Amino acid sequence: MKRDSTAQTLLVAAMLCVVCSVIVAGAAVGLRPLQDANKRLDKKKNVLIAGGLISEGQAVSQQEIDEKFTQKIHSVLIDLKTGQPVDSTVVNPETYDQRTAAADPKQNQPIPRSADLAGIKRREKYAFVYEVVDTGGEVKQLVLPINGKGLWSTLYGFLALDADGSTVRGITFYEHGETAGLGAEVDNPKWKAIWPGKQVFDETGKIRLEVIKGSVLPSSPNVQYEVDGISGATITSKGVSNLIHYWLGPDAFGPFLDHLRQREDGSPDA
Ligand SMILES: Cc1cc2nc3c(=O)[nH]c(=O)nc-3n(C[C@H](O)[C@H](O)[C@H](O)COP(=O)(O)O)c2cc1C
Repeated sequence: MKRDSTAQTLLVAAMLCVVCSVIVAGAAVGLRPLQDANKRLDKKKNVLIAGGLISEGQAVSQQEIDEKFTQKIHSVLIDLKTGQPVDSTVVNPETYDQRTAAADPKQNQPIPRSADLAGIKRREKYAFVYEVVDTGGEVKQLVLPINGKGLWSTLYGFLALDADGSTVRGITFYEHGETAGLGAEVDNPKWKAIWPGKQVFDETGKIRLEVIKGSVLPSSPNVQYEVDGISGATITSKGVSNLIHYWLGPDAFGPFLDHLRQREDGSPDA
């Protein structure tokens, strides 16, 4: 075959393609464990941020995150239907990956359309509740994983509640594809700083927490339930309200929160 023949050129191009794809595929497979470890670390970091155990933008090493998570967080895997911890012989919390389960039809279930406020269509059967414990082991806060549709994307985050399950302690979003400067302001520390102290439920147990359009008036009768909307991002703001209503509602963490309230009231657990 001549060096400058068409066949030779095509052969070299084909060989180059094969070599490049082997290198790219090898790198993707080889780096997967590192990427997974980084994702796990990032999730732990966000649980700690939502629970106020580290602050946003604080430089923390991988070791510090791991240590703080081990010392301060008690992960409990909940059966969302019953609101009770899952028997570890049924599902092993050590190996359970909630995001994988949410995407796996064998591990998730359809959400009835009328209940699907978060717009996610299916949800996992089991979800983690991250209890923030003090040095005596007393539960001080609960950090709940939340997700739901914004305008362009599904937002993934954590909502931290007081041990009473009703007062907000913090919120974070660690993954989304909303527009920078608009919907992506869900990440803005100034906006997130509005949330602590807000109430989720009224005295009848109805979920009242809402991201409103515009700014909350200090004179509003619902000031304790209302959070300023993100300007120019009403759809993302509404998405945040909706996903909170879904995840704290009867189809998701509602049964768990009911048990919590019954224990707080001292009434017998259902
Ligand atoms: C390029 C572009 C990106 C946008 N990104 C978002 C977004 O991330 N979230 C959002 O709610 N609205 C976004 N919007 C605006 C929405 O289309 C819609 O107008 C807005 O949510 C209405 O909010 P407002 O009533 O506060 O103006 C975007 C609009 C444009 C043109």
